[in-house]
Amino acid sequence: MDVTPIEISENTPLKLLNTFKTGGNACYFVDVSTIKQLIQAVSFAQKRSLPIFILGEGSNILISDEGFDGLVIRMKISGITFQNETEEKIEVRVGAGEHWDFFVEHMVSKGLYGIENLSGIPGSVGAAPVQNIGAYGVEAKDSILFVDVFDIEDTKIKKISSPDCNFSYRDSIFKTEKGKKYIIVSVTFLLKKHKNLSTDYRDLALYLKERDITHPSLQDIRNAILEIRKQKLPSLADYGTAGSFFKNIIIQDREFKLLKERFPKIPSFLAEVGKVKIPTAWVFDNICNLKGLREGNVGVYERQALVLVTFGNATSLEVKNLSDFIIEEVKKKTGLLLEREVQLVGMFD
Ligand code: EPU
Repeated sequence: MDVTPIEISENTPLKLLNTFKTGGNACYFVDVSTIKQLIQAVSFAQKRSLPIFILGEGSNILISDEGFDGLVIRMKISGITFQNETEEKIEVRVGAGEHWDFFVEHMVSKGLYGIENLSGIPGSVGAAPVQNIGAYGVEAKDSILFVDVFDIEDTKIKKISSPDCNFSYRDSIFKTEKGKKYIIVSVTFLLKKHKNLSTDYRDLALYLKERDITHPSLQDIRNAILEIRKQKLPSLADYGTAGSFFKNIIIQDREFKLLKERFPKIPSFLAEVGKVKIPTAWVFDNICNLKGLREGNVGVYERQALVLVTFGNATSLEVKNLSDFIIEEVKKKTGLLLEREVQLVGMFD
């Protein structure tokens, strides 16, 4: 059993620990590699009544320039184990601190199906269920069997089954008040051993057609997704960014009918019953003229309008202000209410 004591540092910069590369310092900061260490860290914070923020790889957050006035726990619990294998399926339990794309690559190399369309998404495994990551027609929830969490209220490890995670589009129990007491320590996926690919998403189908790939392998799909992402999304090496900054907009059918009268070309996709999903990027491009917009050190990425990027020495406030401006513009021109996908950490007002 690991009894390595935790090392808590003070006034620790968070700037290089998030992909926007902005934000201030953490009052206290600690890395945890085991559940024991996590329990020690939580107890440190509770004894001092400090708020806790769990950091993965910082790829979907915007940290306040004032920093975080509490304890930041960076999740480093690792390990990939296989269990309950049948003729068709296998369960894979993955530590929350594993790098998401390392896990995807490993599963593809083992011939396991289910998460290949989620190739190339930045971040850690523990963050995947929080916002139910999704891309190219697939969501994490499609393969998640259950999530193991540490409940900071009764200090017990619990298993939350997939239905109890309340997954929906970019959402889960872990984003709600009720779920805030849970710290994810591992995620268990149910992956398929036989060919089962999802190739209908427009960009992916087009990519395969153009290259005459009629019977793609698992590896072909991973390669295709990595290539498509490279063309559309900014590289983390070149820009500060957190990918899609806003969610796509989901509205009622009847609301959409009215909108369609005003903007006849507006596209839509089926969402849940009685609702449609509108590509926010299309609204930015075709109604609000936002693509390529630049304000000082921050801007809207020219190849994918949902993505905000920073240039040079941007501050988090500049990013937040640009996002507020965009939310206002969209509201003014369409009446639609945009939601941020990226989580704000610390104080902004
Ligand atoms: N579109 C535009 N302008 C653009 C981009 C897209 O008009 O600049 C329109 C097109 O009509 C396109 C439609 O929007 O057909 C959908 O675009 P795309 O397939 O690029 O996807 P998205 O809805 O903009 C979502 C995810 C991405 C994910 C892609 C691919 C959200 C918030 N974003 O974006 O996820 O990679 O689908 O599946 O759901 C992320 O979460 O960080 C992320 C990048």
